[in-house]
Amino acid sequence: INTFIEPYLVPDGSKELNENLKSMAASFAVTDDKIREIIIGFHESMKTGLDHDDDNALPMIPTFVRGRPTGKEKGTYLALDLGGTNLRVCQVTLNGDTTYSLVQQKFTITQEAKESHLWDFIAECVGVFLEEHGLIPAPGERTIPCGYTFSFPIFQTSISSGNLSMWNKSFTVPNSVGRDVVNLTQSAFQRHHVPVEVVAVLNDTVGTLMTSGYSHPDTQMGIIFGTGTNAAYWERMENISKWKGEDRTGEMVVNLEWGAFDNATRVLPYTMHDNKLNRKSPNHGLQVFEKMISGLFLGEVARNAILSLVDQRLVFEGQSSEIMNKSYTFDTAYMSQIVADDSSDLHVVKTVLESTLDILPTTLTDRLVVKNVCGMIGTRGVRLSAAAMSAVLLARPELMESEISVGIDGSMYQFYPNFEQDLYKVSRVFLGEDFVDNRLKLHLAKDGSGVGAAIVAMTVDRDRSI
Ligand code: GLC
Repeated sequence: INTFIEPYLVPDGSKELNENLKSMAASFAVTDDKIREIIIGFHESMKTGLDHDDDNALPMIPTFVRGRPTGKEKGTYLALDLGGTNLRVCQVTLNGDTTYSLVQQKFTITQEAKESHLWDFIAECVGVFLEEHGLIPAPGERTIPCGYTFSFPIFQTSISSGNLSMWNKSFTVPNSVGRDVVNLTQSAFQRHHVPVEVVAVLNDTVGTLMTSGYSHPDTQMGIIFGTGTNAAYWERMENISKWKGEDRTGEMVVNLEWGAFDNATRVLPYTMHDNKLNRKSPNHGLQVFEKMISGLFLGEVARNAILSLVDQRLVFEGQSSEIMNKSYTFDTAYMSQIVADDSSDLHVVKTVLESTLDILPTTLTDRLVVKNVCGMIGTRGVRLSAAAMSAVLLARPELMESEISVGIDGSMYQFYPNFEQDLYKVSRVFLGEDFVDNRLKLHLAKDGSGVGAAIVAMTVDRDRSI
Protein backbone atom coordinates (compact mmCIF):
# COMPACT_ATOMS: atom_id res chain seq x y z
CA ILE A 1 0.00 0.00 0.00
CA ASN A 2 1.30 3.43 -0.85
CA THR A 3 0.38 5.29 2.34
CA PHE A 4 0.70 8.60 0.55
CA ILE A 5 -1.99 7.69 -1.95
CA GLU A 6 -4.30 4.82 -1.02
CA PRO A 7 -5.97 6.42 2.03
CA TYR A 8 -7.15 9.31 -0.11
CA LEU A 9 -9.08 7.35 -2.74
CA VAL A 10 -12.88 7.21 -2.41
CA PRO A 11 -14.71 3.87 -2.67
CA ASP A 12 -17.76 5.19 -4.54
CA GLY A 13 -15.85 7.57 -6.76
CA SER A 14 -15.59 7.32 -10.53
CA LYS A 15 -12.37 6.12 -12.12
CA GLU A 16 -11.63 9.65 -13.28
CA LEU A 17 -12.15 11.07 -9.80
CA ASN A 18 -9.85 8.50 -8.22
CA GLU A 19 -7.21 9.03 -10.90
CA ASN A 20 -7.28 12.72 -10.05
CA LEU A 21 -7.09 12.09 -6.32
CA LYS A 22 -4.20 9.75 -6.93
CA SER A 23 -2.12 12.30 -8.74
CA MET A 24 -3.09 15.02 -6.28
CA ALA A 25 -2.02 12.83 -3.33
CA ALA A 26 1.25 12.06 -5.09
CA SER A 27 1.91 15.76 -5.63
CA PHE A 28 1.29 16.58 -1.94
CA ALA A 29 3.33 13.62 -0.68
CA VAL A 30 6.52 14.27 1.27
CA THR A 31 8.49 11.04 1.36
CA ASP A 32 11.13 10.19 3.96
CA ASP A 33 13.80 10.72 1.32
CA LYS A 34 12.41 14.16 0.55
CA ILE A 35 12.58 14.99 4.26
CA ARG A 36 16.22 13.87 4.35
CA GLU A 37 16.92 16.22 1.44
CA ILE A 38 15.12 19.05 3.25
CA ILE A 39 17.16 18.44 6.42
CA ILE A 40 20.40 18.68 4.42
CA GLY A 41 19.10 21.88 2.80
CA PHE A 42 18.28 23.29 6.23
CA HIS A 43 21.76 22.54 7.56
CA GLU A 44 23.48 24.24 4.62
CA SER A 45 21.20 27.22 4.84
CA MET A 46 21.57 27.53 8.62
CA LYS A 47 25.35 27.41 8.35
CA THR A 48 25.48 30.11 5.66
CA GLY A 49 23.03 32.26 7.62
CA LEU A 50 25.15 32.01 10.78
CA ASP A 51 28.20 32.99 8.78
CA HIS A 52 26.85 36.03 6.95
CA ASP A 53 23.60 37.70 5.93
CA ASP A 54 22.58 36.23 2.61
CA ASP A 55 19.21 36.61 0.86
CA ASN A 56 19.53 33.04 -0.38
CA ALA A 57 19.98 31.52 3.08
CA LEU A 58 18.03 31.43 6.34
CA PRO A 59 18.23 34.81 8.15
CA MET A 60 19.55 33.23 11.44
CA ILE A 61 19.06 36.48 13.38
CA PRO A 62 21.08 36.98 16.60
CA THR A 63 18.56 38.16 19.20
CA PHE A 64 20.82 39.63 21.94
CA VAL A 65 19.10 37.25 24.40
CA ARG A 66 21.91 35.49 26.26
CA GLY A 67 20.62 34.53 29.69
CA ARG A 68 18.46 31.48 30.24
CA PRO A 69 15.48 32.01 32.51
CA THR A 70 15.87 30.39 35.92
CA GLY A 71 12.22 30.10 36.89
CA LYS A 72 12.98 32.39 39.86
CA GLU A 73 12.22 35.65 38.04
CA LYS A 74 9.56 37.49 39.99
CA GLY A 75 7.45 40.57 39.38
CA THR A 76 4.71 42.06 37.22
CA TYR A 77 5.38 43.31 33.74
CA LEU A 78 3.51 44.76 30.83
CA ALA A 79 3.83 42.81 27.59
CA LEU A 80 2.64 43.53 24.06
CA ASP A 81 2.32 40.68 21.66
CA LEU A 82 1.81 41.60 18.02
CA GLY A 83 0.94 38.36 16.22
CA GLY A 84 -0.33 37.72 12.71
CA THR A 85 -3.99 37.84 13.73
CA ASN A 86 -4.27 39.48 17.16
CA LEU A 87 -2.61 42.06 19.29
CA ARG A 88 -2.52 40.97 22.90
CA VAL A 89 -1.83 43.40 25.69
CA CYS A 90 -0.93 41.56 28.87
CA GLN A 91 -0.06 42.20 32.45
CA VAL A 92 2.13 39.24 33.31
CA THR A 93 2.96 38.15 36.84
CA LEU A 94 5.94 35.87 37.25
CA ASN A 95 5.63 34.18 40.63
CA GLY A 96 9.29 33.26 41.04
CA ASP A 97 8.49 29.55 41.38
CA THR A 98 8.33 28.57 37.66
CA THR A 99 4.65 29.52 37.52
CA TYR A 100 3.02 32.63 36.08
CA SER A 101 -0.35 34.18 35.57
CA LEU A 102 -1.58 36.86 33.25
CA VAL A 103 -4.41 39.26 32.62
CA GLN A 104 -4.78 39.94 28.95
CA GLN A 105 -6.94 41.69 26.46
CA LYS A 106 -7.03 40.51 22.87
CA PHE A 107 -7.63 42.89 19.99
CA THR A 108 -8.22 41.50 16.50
CA ILE A 109 -5.94 43.38 14.13
CA THR A 110 -8.15 45.09 11.57
CA GLN A 111 -7.44 44.85 7.85
CA GLU A 112 -6.95 48.61 7.86
CA ALA A 113 -4.28 48.31 10.57
CA LYS A 114 -2.54 45.52 8.61
CA GLU A 115 -2.39 47.75 5.56
CA SER A 116 -1.84 51.22 6.96
CA HIS A 117 -2.37 52.46 10.52
CA LEU A 118 -0.75 49.68 12.50
CA TRP A 119 1.31 51.85 14.84
CA ASP A 120 -1.63 54.05 15.84
CA PHE A 121 -3.78 50.94 16.24
CA ILE A 122 -1.25 49.45 18.68
CA ALA A 123 -1.03 52.67 20.69
CA GLU A 124 -4.81 52.93 20.92
CA CYS A 125 -5.15 49.33 22.14
CA VAL A 126 -2.46 49.78 24.78
CA GLY A 127 -4.16 53.01 25.88
CA VAL A 128 -7.48 51.17 26.29
CA PHE A 129 -5.83 48.39 28.30
CA LEU A 130 -4.06 50.78 30.70
CA GLU A 131 -7.25 52.75 31.17
CA GLU A 132 -9.43 49.69 31.79
CA HIS A 133 -6.97 48.08 34.21
CA GLY A 134 -6.25 51.26 36.15
CA LEU A 135 -2.57 51.24 35.21
CA ILE A 136 -2.08 54.86 34.08
CA PRO A 137 0.73 56.24 36.27
CA ALA A 138 0.03 59.32 38.42
CA PRO A 139 1.66 62.57 37.22
CA GLY A 140 5.38 62.48 37.97
CA GLU A 141 5.53 58.70 38.14
CA ARG A 142 7.79 56.80 35.72
CA THR A 143 6.59 55.44 32.44
CA ILE A 144 5.68 51.75 32.38
CA PRO A 145 8.42 49.42 31.10
CA CYS A 146 7.25 46.80 28.67
CA GLY A 147 8.41 43.80 26.69
CA TYR A 148 7.34 43.77 23.05
CA THR A 149 6.88 40.62 21.01
CA PHE A 150 7.00 41.41 17.34
CA SER A 151 6.15 38.45 15.13
CA PHE A 152 7.80 39.59 11.93
CA PRO A 153 11.45 39.46 10.87
CA ILE A 154 13.51 42.27 12.33
CA PHE A 155 17.27 42.58 12.23
CA GLN A 156 18.00 43.42 15.84
CA THR A 157 20.47 46.16 16.57
CA SER A 158 20.13 45.80 20.36
CA ILE A 159 17.80 44.09 22.83
CA SER A 160 15.42 47.02 22.44
CA SER A 161 15.70 47.94 18.76
CA GLY A 162 15.48 46.28 15.39
CA ASN A 163 14.84 47.15 11.76
CA LEU A 164 12.00 45.50 9.90
CA SER A 165 13.37 43.24 7.20
CA MET A 166 10.03 42.70 5.43
CA TRP A 167 6.35 42.18 6.06
CA ASN A 168 4.68 38.82 5.65
CA LYS A 169 1.41 37.10 6.68
CA SER A 170 -0.52 39.67 4.57
CA PHE A 171 0.73 42.77 6.40
CA THR A 172 1.75 45.60 4.08
CA VAL A 173 2.05 48.74 6.28
CA PRO A 174 3.93 51.32 4.18
CA ASN A 175 7.04 53.23 5.25
CA SER A 176 8.13 50.54 7.68
CA VAL A 177 10.59 48.20 5.99
CA GLY A 178 14.15 49.07 6.99
CA ARG A 179 13.00 51.15 9.96
CA ASP A 180 13.24 50.49 13.69
CA VAL A 181 9.90 49.03 14.77
CA VAL A 182 10.41 50.07 18.39
CA ASN A 183 10.90 53.65 17.28
CA LEU A 184 7.78 53.53 15.13
CA THR A 185 5.76 52.12 18.02
CA GLN A 186 7.24 54.48 20.59
CA SER A 187 6.42 57.51 18.40
CA ALA A 188 2.81 56.32 18.19
CA PHE A 189 2.74 56.01 22.00
CA GLN A 190 3.85 59.63 22.17
CA ARG A 191 1.22 60.78 19.70
CA HIS A 192 -1.47 59.02 21.73
CA HIS A 193 -0.06 59.97 25.18
CA VAL A 194 0.50 56.34 26.17
CA PRO A 195 3.04 56.32 29.05
CA VAL A 196 4.88 53.13 28.09
CA GLU A 197 8.53 52.48 27.29
CA VAL A 198 9.61 49.42 25.31
CA VAL A 199 12.68 47.97 27.06
CA ALA A 200 12.96 44.75 25.05
CA VAL A 201 11.79 43.61 21.64
CA LEU A 202 11.73 39.95 20.64
CA ASN A 203 10.35 37.52 18.12
CA ASP A 204 7.37 35.38 19.19
CA THR A 205 9.48 32.22 18.88
CA VAL A 206 11.97 33.72 21.34
CA GLY A 207 9.09 34.46 23.71
CA THR A 208 7.93 30.87 23.38
CA LEU A 209 11.44 29.57 24.05
CA MET A 210 11.79 31.76 27.17
CA THR A 211 8.35 30.88 28.51
CA SER A 212 8.95 27.20 28.11
CA GLY A 213 12.39 27.65 29.71
CA TYR A 214 10.82 29.37 32.71
CA SER A 215 8.84 26.20 33.51
CA HIS A 216 11.21 23.64 31.93
CA PRO A 217 14.86 24.68 32.23
CA ASP A 218 15.95 22.05 29.68
CA THR A 219 14.17 23.93 26.84
CA GLN A 220 16.41 24.25 23.77
CA MET A 221 13.99 25.43 21.14
CA GLY A 222 10.81 27.49 20.76
CA ILE A 223 8.49 27.00 17.78
CA ILE A 224 5.36 28.68 16.46
CA PHE A 225 3.03 26.62 14.30
CA GLY A 226 0.29 29.22 13.94
CA THR A 227 -0.81 31.85 11.44
CA GLY A 228 2.85 31.80 10.41
CA THR A 229 5.64 29.44 11.36
CA ASN A 230 9.15 29.93 12.71
CA ALA A 231 11.57 28.80 15.42
CA ALA A 232 14.32 30.04 17.72
CA TYR A 233 17.01 27.97 19.48
CA TRP A 234 20.04 28.32 21.69
CA GLU A 235 23.25 28.44 19.65
CA ARG A 236 26.83 28.59 20.88
CA MET A 237 28.35 32.05 20.32
CA GLU A 238 31.41 30.49 18.68
CA ASN A 239 29.11 29.13 15.92
CA ILE A 240 27.55 32.52 15.19
CA SER A 241 30.43 33.68 12.99
CA LYS A 242 28.63 36.80 11.81
CA TRP A 243 28.26 38.19 15.37
CA LYS A 244 30.37 41.32 15.57
CA GLY A 245 30.11 41.92 19.33
CA GLU A 246 33.12 41.45 21.59
CA ASP A 247 31.91 38.85 24.04
CA ARG A 248 31.90 35.55 22.18
CA THR A 249 31.44 33.27 25.16
CA GLY A 250 28.37 31.27 26.09
CA GLU A 251 25.19 31.06 24.06
CA MET A 252 22.65 33.31 22.38
CA VAL A 253 19.16 32.70 21.11
CA VAL A 254 19.05 32.72 17.30
CA ASN A 255 15.80 33.39 15.43
CA LEU A 256 15.90 31.20 12.33
CA GLU A 257 13.01 32.79 10.39
CA TRP A 258 12.52 29.34 8.88
CA GLY A 259 9.41 30.45 7.00
CA ALA A 260 11.95 31.78 4.48
CA PHE A 261 13.47 28.34 3.87
CA ASP A 262 13.84 27.41 0.19
CA ASN A 263 13.37 30.94 -1.11
CA ALA A 264 16.31 30.22 -3.37
CA THR A 265 17.05 26.48 -3.27
CA ARG A 266 13.75 24.93 -4.37
CA VAL A 267 13.88 21.50 -2.75
CA LEU A 268 10.29 21.71 -1.49
CA PRO A 269 7.56 19.79 -3.31
CA TYR A 270 5.59 22.65 -4.88
CA THR A 271 2.26 21.87 -6.54
CA MET A 272 0.34 24.09 -8.95
CA HIS A 273 -1.95 24.97 -6.03
CA ASP A 274 1.02 26.35 -4.06
CA ASN A 275 2.24 28.24 -7.09
CA LYS A 276 -1.15 29.83 -7.57
CA LEU A 277 -1.29 30.99 -3.95
CA ASN A 278 2.27 32.26 -4.12
CA ARG A 279 1.72 34.21 -7.31
CA LYS A 280 -1.27 36.02 -5.85
CA SER A 281 0.36 36.85 -2.48
CA PRO A 282 1.83 40.26 -1.66
CA ASN A 283 5.21 38.63 -0.92
CA HIS A 284 5.45 36.52 -4.05
CA GLY A 285 8.41 34.13 -4.00
CA LEU A 286 9.09 34.74 -0.31
CA GLN A 287 8.20 32.73 2.82
CA VAL A 288 7.51 29.73 0.61
CA PHE A 289 8.04 27.20 3.41
CA GLU A 290 5.61 29.09 5.65
CA LYS A 291 3.05 29.01 2.84
CA MET A 292 3.08 25.18 2.93
CA ILE A 293 2.81 24.86 6.69
CA SER A 294 0.98 27.59 8.46
CA GLY A 295 -2.59 28.43 9.31
CA LEU A 296 -2.91 31.53 7.19
CA PHE A 297 -2.23 29.57 4.02
CA LEU A 298 -3.27 25.92 4.29
CA GLY A 299 -6.96 26.62 3.81
CA GLU A 300 -6.16 28.59 0.68
CA VAL A 301 -4.07 25.75 -0.75
CA ALA A 302 -7.01 23.42 -0.02
CA ARG A 303 -9.46 25.83 -1.66
CA ASN A 304 -7.32 25.92 -4.81
CA ALA A 305 -7.10 22.12 -4.86
CA ILE A 306 -10.84 21.61 -4.32
CA LEU A 307 -11.68 24.16 -7.02
CA SER A 308 -9.46 22.31 -9.47
CA LEU A 309 -11.74 19.27 -8.94
CA VAL A 310 -14.85 21.44 -9.28
CA ASP A 311 -13.56 22.80 -12.58
CA GLN A 312 -13.27 19.25 -13.86
CA ARG A 313 -16.84 18.55 -12.69
CA LEU A 314 -15.57 15.87 -10.33
CA VAL A 315 -17.22 17.29 -7.17
CA PHE A 316 -20.34 19.34 -6.32
CA GLU A 317 -21.66 18.63 -9.83
CA GLY A 318 -19.19 21.20 -11.06
CA GLN A 319 -20.83 24.04 -9.07
CA SER A 320 -18.86 26.25 -6.71
CA SER A 321 -20.33 29.16 -4.72
CA GLU A 322 -19.65 32.86 -4.51
CA ILE A 323 -18.02 32.43 -1.10
CA MET A 324 -15.86 29.51 -2.21
CA ASN A 325 -14.72 31.47 -5.26
CA LYS A 326 -13.26 34.24 -3.11
CA SER A 327 -9.63 33.93 -1.97
CA TYR A 328 -8.96 32.99 1.66
CA THR A 329 -12.58 32.10 2.48
CA PHE A 330 -11.76 28.47 3.20
CA ASP A 331 -10.33 29.01 6.66
CA THR A 332 -7.72 26.59 7.99
CA ALA A 333 -9.96 26.18 11.07
CA TYR A 334 -12.50 24.51 8.74
CA MET A 335 -9.80 22.11 7.61
CA SER A 336 -9.27 21.06 11.24
CA GLN A 337 -13.00 20.49 11.71
CA ILE A 338 -13.29 18.58 8.44
CA VAL A 339 -10.30 16.31 9.07
CA ALA A 340 -11.59 15.58 12.59
CA ASP A 341 -15.05 14.53 11.36
CA ASP A 342 -15.29 10.76 11.80
CA SER A 343 -19.08 10.49 11.58
CA SER A 344 -20.52 8.06 9.03
CA ASP A 345 -22.41 10.78 7.14
CA LEU A 346 -19.62 13.38 7.53
CA HIS A 347 -22.15 15.85 8.90
CA VAL A 348 -19.54 18.34 10.12
CA VAL A 349 -18.10 18.48 6.60
CA LYS A 350 -21.65 18.94 5.33
CA THR A 351 -22.29 21.89 7.66
CA VAL A 352 -19.05 23.60 6.68
CA LEU A 353 -19.62 23.11 2.96
CA GLU A 354 -23.34 23.80 2.81
CA SER A 355 -24.07 26.24 5.63
CA THR A 356 -20.79 28.13 5.84
CA LEU A 357 -19.56 28.03 2.28
CA ASP A 358 -22.94 27.93 0.59
CA ILE A 359 -22.28 24.92 -1.60
CA LEU A 360 -25.46 23.00 -2.36
CA PRO A 361 -26.13 20.13 -2.28
CA THR A 362 -23.25 17.79 -1.43
CA THR A 363 -23.14 14.02 -1.70
CA LEU A 364 -21.32 11.80 0.75
CA THR A 365 -18.68 11.22 -1.92
CA ASP A 366 -18.20 14.99 -2.33
CA ARG A 367 -17.70 15.30 1.38
CA LEU A 368 -15.24 12.44 1.53
CA VAL A 369 -13.25 13.96 -1.32
CA VAL A 370 -13.04 17.29 0.52
CA LYS A 371 -11.99 15.54 3.72
CA ASN A 372 -9.30 13.61 1.87
CA VAL A 373 -7.95 16.67 0.07
CA CYS A 374 -7.73 18.52 3.40
CA GLY A 375 -5.99 15.47 4.88
CA MET A 376 -3.33 15.43 2.14
CA ILE A 377 -2.51 19.08 2.66
CA GLY A 378 -2.58 18.89 6.47
CA THR A 379 -0.37 15.81 6.48
CA ARG A 380 2.11 17.50 4.20
CA GLY A 381 2.17 20.45 6.62
CA VAL A 382 2.84 18.25 9.65
CA ARG A 383 5.56 16.29 7.86
CA LEU A 384 7.32 19.48 6.77
CA SER A 385 6.96 20.84 10.31
CA ALA A 386 8.61 17.71 11.70
CA ALA A 387 11.35 18.00 9.07
CA ALA A 388 12.19 21.53 10.18
CA MET A 389 12.16 20.70 13.89
CA SER A 390 14.33 17.65 13.29
CA ALA A 391 16.80 19.65 11.20
CA VAL A 392 17.35 22.18 14.00
CA LEU A 393 17.78 19.54 16.69
CA LEU A 394 20.19 17.56 14.50
CA ALA A 395 22.27 20.71 14.07
CA ARG A 396 23.16 20.41 17.80
CA PRO A 397 23.55 16.64 18.21
CA GLU A 398 25.29 16.98 21.57
CA LEU A 399 22.04 18.25 23.07
CA MET A 400 20.27 15.06 22.06
CA GLU A 401 22.32 13.07 24.57
CA SER A 402 20.19 14.44 27.42
CA GLU A 403 16.50 15.10 27.93
CA ILE A 404 15.36 18.23 26.16
CA SER A 405 12.18 20.24 25.95
CA VAL A 406 10.79 22.13 22.99
CA GLY A 407 8.21 24.86 23.71
CA ILE A 408 5.55 25.22 21.02
CA ASP A 409 2.59 27.52 20.53
CA GLY A 410 0.19 28.40 17.73
CA SER A 411 -3.16 27.45 16.27
CA MET A 412 -1.91 24.58 14.08
CA TYR A 413 -0.22 22.90 17.05
CA GLN A 414 -3.22 23.44 19.26
CA PHE A 415 -6.11 22.75 16.91
CA TYR A 416 -5.09 20.69 13.86
CA PRO A 417 -6.09 17.07 14.63
CA ASN A 418 -3.23 14.92 16.02
CA PHE A 419 -0.63 17.55 15.18
CA GLU A 420 1.56 16.89 18.23
CA GLN A 421 1.24 13.13 17.99
CA ASP A 422 2.24 13.24 14.31
CA LEU A 423 5.20 15.51 15.06
CA TYR A 424 6.53 12.86 17.44
CA LYS A 425 5.76 10.08 14.98
CA VAL A 426 7.47 11.65 11.97
CA SER A 427 10.47 12.88 13.98
CA ARG A 428 11.19 9.36 15.25
CA VAL A 429 12.32 8.41 11.74
CA PHE A 430 14.92 11.16 11.60
CA LEU A 431 15.88 11.73 15.24
CA GLY A 432 15.82 8.09 16.33
CA GLU A 433 13.24 6.20 18.34
CA ASP A 434 15.34 6.17 21.52
CA PHE A 435 15.70 9.94 21.60
CA VAL A 436 12.10 10.74 20.66
CA ASP A 437 10.51 8.16 22.96
CA ASN A 438 12.75 8.74 25.96
CA ARG A 439 14.25 12.21 25.90
CA LEU A 440 12.28 14.61 23.68
CA LYS A 441 9.43 16.51 25.35
CA LEU A 442 7.17 18.83 23.38
CA HIS A 443 5.27 21.30 25.56
CA LEU A 444 2.52 23.74 24.77
CA ALA A 445 3.92 27.13 25.82
CA LYS A 446 0.53 28.74 26.11
CA ASP A 447 0.56 32.52 25.68
CA GLY A 448 4.30 32.04 25.36
CA SER A 449 4.96 35.10 23.29
CA GLY A 450 3.45 37.46 25.86
CA VAL A 451 4.93 35.79 28.91
CA GLY A 452 8.32 35.54 27.20
CA ALA A 453 8.26 39.28 26.54
CA ALA A 454 7.81 39.86 30.25
CA ILE A 455 10.67 37.50 31.10
CA VAL A 456 13.07 39.20 28.70
CA ALA A 457 11.95 42.67 29.81
CA MET A 458 12.63 41.66 33.37
CA THR A 459 16.12 40.42 32.63
CA VAL A 460 17.03 43.81 31.13
CA ASP A 461 15.18 45.93 33.63
CA ARG A 462 15.25 43.91 36.81
CA ASP A 463 14.16 46.48 39.36
CA ARG A 464 11.25 48.09 37.55
CA SER A 465 8.04 46.08 37.96
CA ILE A 466 4.67 47.75 37.37
C1 GLC B 1 6.50 34.78 10.31
C2 GLC B 1 7.47 35.84 10.82
C3 GLC B 1 8.23 35.33 12.03
C4 GLC B 1 7.27 34.77 13.07
C5 GLC B 1 6.37 33.71 12.45
C6 GLC B 1 5.36 33.13 13.45
O1 GLC B 1 7.22 33.72 9.80
O2 GLC B 1 8.41 36.18 9.81
O3 GLC B 1 8.99 36.37 12.59
O4 GLC B 1 8.01 34.22 14.13
O5 GLC B 1 5.66 34.29 11.37
O6 GLC B 1 4.51 34.10 13.95
